[in-house]
Amino acid sequence: MDKTLEELVQKAEQAYKMAYAPYSAYPVGAAVLWESGRITAGCNVENASYGLTVCAERNAIFQGVALGERTIRAVAIAVPKEEMPTPCGSCRQVIREFAQDCLIILRNGLGQTAQTSLAELLPNSFGPDFLKIT
Ligand code: THU
Repeated sequence: MDKTLEELVQKAEQAYKMAYAPYSAYPVGAAVLWESGRITAGCNVENASYGLTVCAERNAIFQGVALGERTIRAVAIAVPKEEMPTPCGSCRQVIREFAQDCLIILRNGLGQTAQTSLAELLPNSFGPDFLKIT
């Protein structure tokens, strides 16, 4: 794997160590590579009022947006469990807001890596381009 992408996955792995997941015991880390080359990372943050939980992917994305980033090149998602992670439907749509398509890299706790794309995970998607006047 490309050096930048390996760094991206490592940042996602570091991020799950900071996860606040006392209810699910399912820590998740995510790292986003932006068009500028910047990487932002995040973990899931749960809440006693369960529905207020925010996924790792969205925490990583919103941090980048707050820094002025607008275009996602790749997202890495890492978990310490054996089963390969996959982004939830809501996070797929939030990624779509900042990428028509992008690379998605998945890593499990065995150190195994899988690659997919947003277009594969969210086919025939709706996004902001539908609302823009050309
Ligand atoms: N979660 C994520 O952070 N990202 C995903 O891709 C799947 C789900 C979190 C939400 C919740 O804290 C826990 O995993 C179990 O659903």
